[in-house]
Amino acid sequence: MKTQVAIIGSGPAGLLLGQLLSKAGIDNIIIEAQDKEYILGRIRAGVLEHVTTDLLRQAGAGERMDKEGLVHQGFNLYFNNRCERIDFCKLTGGKTVTVYGQTELTKDLMDVREAGTYQTIYHAKNVELHDVTTNTPFVTYQKNGEQHRVDCDFIAGCDGFHGVSRPTIPPEIRNEYEYAYPFGWLGILADVPPVDEEVVYGHHEDGFVLCSMRSKTRSRYYVQVPIDEKVEDWSEERFWNELKHRLPDELAEKVVTGPALEMSIAPLRSFVCEPMQHGSLFLAGDSAHIVPPTGAKGLNLAAGDAKRLFEGFEQFYLHNSRASLNNYSPECLDRVWKAERFSWWMTSLFHKLDDNPFSRKIQQAELEYLTGSEAGKTTIAENFVGLD
Ligand code: APR
Ligand code: PHB
Repeated sequence: MKTQVAIIGSGPAGLLLGQLLSKAGIDNIIIEAQDKEYILGRIRAGVLEHVTTDLLRQAGAGERMDKEGLVHQGFNLYFNNRCERIDFCKLTGGKTVTVYGQTELTKDLMDVREAGTYQTIYHAKNVELHDVTTNTPFVTYQKNGEQHRVDCDFIAGCDGFHGVSRPTIPPEIRNEYEYAYPFGWLGILADVPPVDEEVVYGHHEDGFVLCSMRSKTRSRYYVQVPIDEKVEDWSEERFWNELKHRLPDELAEKVVTGPALEMSIAPLRSFVCEPMQHGSLFLAGDSAHIVPPTGAKGLNLAAGDAKRLFEGFEQFYLHNSRASLNNYSPECLDRVWKAERFSWWMTSLFHKLDDNPFSRKIQQAELEYLTGSEAGKTTIAENFVGLD
């Protein structure tokens, strides 16, 4: 097989890039290790910045999001037994975010791809990247016991944190920066109305708490747990009790409980790989960087990479210039590190970091300072809606 861009991975990064290329008439194939059901079974964050909503529309997959997505203008911070609203719309001159689950966004992108001409190969096993430092790279994989080869001009490594693309960059030129947090998030998804119309981030002496939603009838809640905690040790009743315990009374009494559609623990990690390109290989999304979910930047970073990489390919194929592709890594990393900083900072501000009461006092003082100052609130707001 032959194509212009071989995309490894059919998550949001690979699908967005694939649709943008397809719309521009640039030939592409997506090679994915899993099947559709597996990909759509993963529950992830669902707060979309403008970069992501605009891109989804540009990819021709924004119709359902525009109908069903919830547009938010603010969120609430809960600490020291009180709530403070951050009106990020007002503080940023009119910017909003859209609450729409990553699962739905992925499904919409898969649907438009299936209606188009370019193919996705699911269940590709033993995917390998070859000759990535030449202008004639190729990808091999096995399917149904047969070996296949895809020749291409470029490879987009959109295969997530555990994929094969990043390790293809030789260790001597690959720098990896990582921080693993000593806690995780225990999350529940349930068909119950959300406790608040807006997202609530809470700082409690027993740990972080987050109230989010997928729709007006589906809620997503999280509580911070130690990293070695087992989900089997958490009954649904125990979860709901812990959630209410960490919320202020006026919110706790409004929590509607119901059977869990999903309950799982996610570890928190900060990670960046430099560079994000090597010869004809370009990394995008989780294959290049991970943020802890506090601030919901992961999907938006992946969308930003897909947009930037698409622009590079467009310049190459339509205007015969490699200049934009050559600048892909430094330009992405500038944006990525700013989001890494914000996600790390939000995480450090809201989570129980240790048993030392001094740490909590400092966090409380910082939250009081930030919310008491226009500049403080603006710094939270402009990072949350996404830096330009
Ligand atoms: N070969 C082919 N495909 C692979 C391989 C491989 N060796 N390894 C992984 N994949 C596939 C995975 O099965 C997955 O479908 O690559 C895809 C990567 O998708 P995601 O993990 O969703 O990563 P990405 O598209 O970058 O999306 C980033 O996901 O984790 C969240 O917070 C993150 O929301 C952000 C988004
Ligand atoms: C979610 O809805 O899953 C969510 C919302 C905000 C976050 C993280 C996750 O910061």
